[in-house]
Order: sequence, then C-alpha cells, then structure tokens
Amino acid sequence: MKRRDLIKKIGLATGAVALNNVVVASSLISEQKKKKVLKIAHITDVHIRPEYNAVVRFKKCLEMIKKDKVDLILNGGDSIYAADYDDIKKERVIELWNCWKDSTSLVKEIPMYSVLGNHDMWWQGKGDELFGKPGVLKMLGLKNSYYSFDKNGWHFIMLDSNHPKTPGMLDEEQWNWFVQDVQASNGKPTLIMSHYPLLSCTGIVDNKPDFIGPFKVSGSYNHLDIMKFIEVFNKNKNIKVCLSGHIHLLDKVWYNDVSYLCNGAASGFWWEPGDDGKSSYKQTVPGYSLLNLYSDGSFDDEYIKYEA
Ligand SMILES: [Fe+2]
Repeated sequence: MKRRDLIKKIGLATGAVALNNVVVASSLISEQKKKKVLKIAHITDVHIRPEYNAVVRFKKCLEMIKKDKVDLILNGGDSIYAADYDDIKKERVIELWNCWKDSTSLVKEIPMYSVLGNHDMWWQGKGDELFGKPGVLKMLGLKNSYYSFDKNGWHFIMLDSNHPKTPGMLDEEQWNWFVQDVQASNGKPTLIMSHYPLLSCTGIVDNKPDFIGPFKVSGSYNHLDIMKFIEVFNKNKNIKVCLSGHIHLLDKVWYNDVSYLCNGAASGFWWEPGDDGKSSYKQTVPGYSLLNLYSDGSFDDEYIKYEA
C-alpha cells in the first residue's frame, strides 16, 4: 500500500469513527428528548348490557387493562348499549348504568376520562334526573360534556360531538371554547378525543358506492366541521393525535401531520355474534387500544384483542 493510500484510509477510518460518534450522540439526544411519559388505554363503544354475558366479557377487558398498568383510561362514549331509542323505559336505563358501574368498579383506582356517545342519552322522561345529557354526566361523574386537562406534559381535549341538530359537529359555543383551549395549551403535545371520528376512512368501508357516483360519507363518519379543525391544526402543530370510535371499525388516518385513530369497539358487534360468531363487525374484533405518549410529542399505539 502506498503511503498516500494509507493516509487516505486512516482519514476515512477517523471520519467513520467521528461520524459514528455523531450518530451515537444524536441518537442519545433524541432518546433523552423522547421519554415515555404516559401509558393510556382507550376504550370506546362498550355498549354494556346484561345480555350476551357482556359484563363478564367487559370485566375481562378491564382486567387486562389493569395488568397493562396504564396511567389513565380514556372512554370514548356509547358506554351503555342504548338509552336513546324511543321505547326505552327508565328501568332499562338504570339497568344499563348498573352494568357500567359494576364493571368499571374493577378499575376504580385508575383515573378515567369519558366523553358522551350518541346512544348514552335517554331522551324519554323529560324532567327526570336521568334525562338527556345531564343524566349521562351524572352517571359518568362529569361536570361538563366537554373539557380539557393536562397530564405529564401532554394536553387532553375531550369533545362532545353530539350536536343537537346535526350530530358529528360542535355547536358554536363549544367551537369557540375549543379554539381558545387550543391557543391556551401553550404548545404542549395534545391529544383530542371525540365519539364521532373527526376524520376517518371507515365511512368508505362502511358504505356502499352507487354505480355512477362517488361514496357519500355522512357526518356520522367524519365531523361535518372537519375542515375547520384542519385549519386550526395547521396553525397549531402541537395537535398530535385524535381518538374516536362510533363506527366499531379500526382505522388509522394520517393527514397533514395529525394522526386520526378510530379505535374499533370494546363490544365489537354490540356483544352479539357478529360476522365471525365472535362478535366481530366486518374485520374488526372486540378490543381496546394501548397508547404510549412521549415527551417529544410522538406516540405509538396498538389495538389489543382481548377475547380468544
Ligand atoms: Fe356511537
């Protein structure tokens, strides 16, 4: 080997060592920046009911969540089977909420934050303590149907998608509160939960195209005011992830730096046999999601099938 070549080789080797050090140093910095700060379970569409052994099955789900050692549980609504149908009597509403209380007593030591689903409200019996949204707030121990809180460096916004006239959007008062709350979040990485998806592709899968036109996707599948949300998210890059349910299908949409996770259903096919005899709705089996949130605003998630 010529001396000149040797020097070249030594130079290259030193460069490689230096480069390696840089790689190690930068990955150490990002490791330090990326610290796991929260582990959460997202359950949605539990639709708890006395039929189909649902309470025992849901308790199995909660036992698994307990073993997962999560810091908090987010409950995405439709907690009870259905109080909203016209023929529902007060006795049935009480029966359903008793199933909910019995099951969730298993995880009473884990903080749980809930939002309202469209099937939670009992619209009969005006004037009764269980009537409408105030009745559900009472059963879930909430002061308001929308609210926010901070935990371990993350900001959480809990929305009420149950618009009185056009479900799947916020009314003006809530919208103004939401915009203000995002601005006040001070750039903290933010997670939003709603019952109806803000943005989801389940509306396509759960729909039939007609022969000549495109799919028509209703506000049940994507918030009617999603374009307004996208504008706010584009100006506030700290919004990282939006969780939802309602469709009972599992999807993950990423759009313009925001992840939208529609996280299946704890009840699958409302606890009934469903499409595979094991309570799946189309391809989605009963499950819950585990999310790890990191200090740098990143996250990872996994949908857990809890029944054999
Ligand atoms: Fe729903």
